[in-house]
Amino acid sequence: MSYNFDREIDRRGSGSLKWDKYRDTDILPMWVADMDLPMADEISHAMSQRMEHPFMGYTVATETTSAAVCDWLRSEFDWDVSPDHLVWLPGVVPGMWAACAAVGAPGDEAVFSTPIYHHFFHVPGQGGKTAKPVPLLREPSGRWTYDFDALNAAMSARTRLMLLCSPHNPTGTLFSVEEQQRMAQLCEAQDLVILSDEVHNGLVLSESNKHVPLAKAYPACRDRLITLMSPSKTFNLAGMQCAFAIIENPQLRRQYIQAMHSVLPQPATLAFTALEAAFTHGKAWHDGLIAHLRKNHALLETAIAAMPGLSMSPMEATYLAWLDTSALGVENPMGFFETHGVGLSAGADFGRADFLRLNFACPQPQLELALTRMRTAIESR
Ligand SMILES: Cc1ncc(COP(=O)(O)O)c(C=O)c1O
Repeated sequence: MSYNFDREIDRRGSGSLKWDKYRDTDILPMWVADMDLPMADEISHAMSQRMEHPFMGYTVATETTSAAVCDWLRSEFDWDVSPDHLVWLPGVVPGMWAACAAVGAPGDEAVFSTPIYHHFFHVPGQGGKTAKPVPLLREPSGRWTYDFDALNAAMSARTRLMLLCSPHNPTGTLFSVEEQQRMAQLCEAQDLVILSDEVHNGLVLSESNKHVPLAKAYPACRDRLITLMSPSKTFNLAGMQCAFAIIENPQLRRQYIQAMHSVLPQPATLAFTALEAAFTHGKAWHDGLIAHLRKNHALLETAIAAMPGLSMSPMEATYLAWLDTSALGVENPMGFFETHGVGLSAGADFGRADFLRLNFACPQPQLELALTRMRTAIESR
């Protein structure tokens, strides 16, 4: 089957968070991490079929659901995961919270590198921990990476958790095996539990590099590792709320499940159906998606390079471009582009007010229109 990722489908009036934000305006939403690309037919077909069975009672993951996850992890990452090590979650963010609630004592610290997906700032506090943000380093090329010295210096006797985002939202960095190994060794030396949020694992743009799960990059850290994954970014299923943690250490897994108990629900019935269909039948759609994202990324890079005042971090993964607006000379970059018809994410939400994040996972005509409007905005200054 071939897929057309350039077909524009009107999402207004469908309860879309992304489009409803700008309801009744002419602002193109290019913000939250949700693609304006329809899910694979194989997924909607599986859900329609499931609807023919007239029961939506409490649902558990079946053997075939777990096997679909394990087969996907084996074929994509050469990672052999036992179904017993999966913990089902109603989302990745709830899974981040569960890690903060499960590990350490109230007042212990969770360290993470910034800029970062905004929930990293909030989940430690929700789980009774103190958030310790540490800035990432910018390499001369503009690529963002860990500042190991600063991370080391930020740790105290109360530090219990390292929260990682790999591949990285919002900078688009795909951390190398060496970077991941160094990070894991730092956590080992400080005896930390590591939470590795790998929700963007299926969105690698680089032709020469692959995502390597931390569990594969540094197997010695598996006893202290909680990996979070989900089909929600890779297959555009964020509204289905289906995710999972992989926790090999039985004691850590027990603690984690205990923290979730009475608080977090299981994924919904149709969420399991969607996840299983995505991992079992979604490969061809996913190959087409990556080709489309690479095409959009190339278009975006060329367009931003020609816009005075804006520059773009080199990115290896995700469909979220991280734009430096510090040379633009406008006070409120998000408001400035909104006035000219483009809705971007404010960098301040990720810890850098001088940046904007642009979601380019959309049909190419939509991206072209957004870029034309941005060019006009810049020329009008
Ligand atoms: C790094 C990261 N983690 C988690 C999420 C959200 O996960 P969920 O919707 O499953 O809670 C996102 C969404 O953009 C993300 O970028």
